Amino acid sequence: MNPTETLQLRVRSITWEADGILSYELRAEPPLKELPVFDAGAHIDLHLPNGLIRSYSLLNRSDERHRYVIGVNKDPQSRGGSRYLHETLRPGDILTVSAPRNNFPLEEGAPLSVFIAGGIGITPIFGMIQRLRTLGRPWRLHYAARTRKQAAFIDALQAMDGRDGAEVHVAYDREAGGKMLDIPAIAADLPGNAHIYCCGPVPMLDAFEAATQALPPARVHREYFAAREAAATEGGFVVELARSKRSLEVPSGKTILDCLLSDGIEPPYSCQEGVCGTCEVRVLDGVPDHRDLVLSEAERATNQRMMICCSGAKSRKLVLDL
Ligand code: FES
Repeated sequence: MNPTETLQLRVRSITWEADGILSYELRAEPPLKELPVFDAGAHIDLHLPNGLIRSYSLLNRSDERHRYVIGVNKDPQSRGGSRYLHETLRPGDILTVSAPRNNFPLEEGAPLSVFIAGGIGITPIFGMIQRLRTLGRPWRLHYAARTRKQAAFIDALQAMDGRDGAEVHVAYDREAGGKMLDIPAIAADLPGNAHIYCCGPVPMLDAFEAATQALPPARVHREYFAAREAAATEGGFVVELARSKRSLEVPSGKTILDCLLSDGIEPPYSCQEGVCGTCEVRVLDGVPDHRDLVLSEAERATNQRMMICCSGAKSRKLVLDL
């Protein structure tokens, strides 16, 4: 499947997982027998009937070909994505879904994988843990939630504690006598050659980035659900589209993606916040002003790729492979 193709999937079931969190099992409809493969850590984009496109991590086992399962937190600040899924979508409905993409891959051969999850950030990590269990590889989880009732998959995870060397540590910060995860201590205690992963709210990820700064980047993995900085809308540069041989002026107040869409060009995109990677484009010339949370520092420095939903230009001209 190419990135612009979509699947029509049936909502087979909706399950309560915790206060405010539902999981959705999506199945292939005949004649489609098997879904596109995915690796642990991957996400899919849902194209909702209200026009929104939203990304959700796959949490089921990556060797399953008959279904995708996602978990959705009902966000009180919802701009219509999680609210639609919680309040309108019903079992039996058909959803338009992209093929899986993976910005948060699991290093399956690591001698130890240490996970830090905050709230709904448990979803990709739950999929990774299932993969490591299948492979018989060791792992540790540090899971933060406000309360036990808000901790999705907590019973399943606690049942894994101590099995095959796995460790599950839980911190509830809004319970009586509760505590926060000590992320600097977790990072400082990381055994040599272990890989460390974090997915959760922005303050948790900021603490994670600070605590893991001294570690080799190849052993540190994180996934953001929301933007950390504003999109580049300063404008004042030209975008040349090498394949379609067109050129656009990006004015102040607009992103590159805004300008492409208003010119009738429809590149793939989803979150519009620089977190999902769907809008990634090859840069053939010029210097992007990177504002996404998908590319690593090393990838940013090469200036070979950029996310056009949020990143702008430091040069007067950008030439894109579009
Ligand atoms: S649309 Fe998600 S990173 Fe650009």
